[in-house]
Amino acid sequence: MTSYKELGLVNTKDMFAKAVKGGYAIPAYNFNNMEQLQAIIQACVETKSPVILQVSSGARKYANKNLLKNMARGAVEYAKELGYEIPIVLHLDHGDSYELCVDCIESGFSSVMIDGSSLSYDENVALTKKVCDYAHSRADYVTVEGELGVLAGVEDDVVAEESHYTKPEEVQDFVSKTGVDSLAISIGTSHGRQKFKPEQCTRNADGVLIPPPLAFDILAEIEKKLPGFPIVLHGSSSVPIEYVKEIEEFGGKLSDSVGIPEDQLRKAAKSAVCKINIDSDGRLAMTAAIRKVLAQKPEEFDPRKYLGPARDELKKLYMHKNKEVLGSADRA
Ligand code: G3H
Ligand code: 13P
Ligand code: ZN
Repeated sequence: MTSYKELGLVNTKDMFAKAVKGGYAIPAYNFNNMEQLQAIIQACVETKSPVILQVSSGARKYANKNLLKNMARGAVEYAKELGYEIPIVLHLDHGDSYELCVDCIESGFSSVMIDGSSLSYDENVALTKKVCDYAHSRADYVTVEGELGVLAGVEDDVVAEESHYTKPEEVQDFVSKTGVDSLAISIGTSHGRQKFKPEQCTRNADGVLIPPPLAFDILAEIEKKLPGFPIVLHGSSSVPIEYVKEIEEFGGKLSDSVGIPEDQLRKAAKSAVCKINIDSDGRLAMTAAIRKVLAQKPEEFDPRKYLGPARDELKKLYMHKNKEVLGSADRA
């Protein structure tokens, strides 16, 4: 059994309190491999941003849990070596069972999400409370994120066809019954690169899809019910059109891609939203860079020659997010 403190990690408690007070959001970037982790750490050290390293259960299966634990330890040491100490959280993204949450906590995670959003309200409360009771009873206090409301799209093993906005009238009861440290809500974001159906959008003069706005009225109601409580936004990739175009230019097919515009995320980050989850944009950045190298240099077969540029592009993307969108730069 490993405590996250042995790995040099922190939980989200202090980080979220500062973010809510300061009107910015902590980046929660998913990773599955070394290049992604290097890009996250380089970008967050250079921008002096706190960071949440997110691992889904799929990522955990892909990377191996012992390797992951030591990658997180390595990330802490790597950040120090780069010359500036930033607070780093290791977080389970979309945990779907009590057993998975316990397993992650015992292998050094400092924060877990228990995603009971596909269950009935009462079942969600019971499962989330069970995870909180365990996580909070530990001497190192592991923080827990719950979810109310359903995001459309794929949430790892949890798949939802339709989104259902979070009901503001349920949030106080959920938080007080479960004891969660933060709450993920549904206000119109969704996972993946197709966040809205084309028929939900308008098109600009170039034919680019323009999505409908997020439900900021629901967010405001939630904030009124839970003043100062840390709120989390999943599905917050912007799906940059430049990456989509580059991927298509070099042979990819990503029709009808649409994300959350940056101005909407900027607005959310200034509110009680203090954690913003981004995975798809990183996938797009890496894929665009890799496709470009392989198309332009067909003789290349050294993985470092395409993963290196992909890592650099990812770092650039994350620096931009921290500085220009989330406001987390210079907060560490
Ligand atoms: O919300 C889901 C995250 O983007 C993780 O995706 O389950 O494919 O690792 P994954
Ligand atoms: P995106 O698919 O919008 O990047 O969302 C990622 C996410 O919510 C991870 O939990
Ligand atoms: Zn998510």
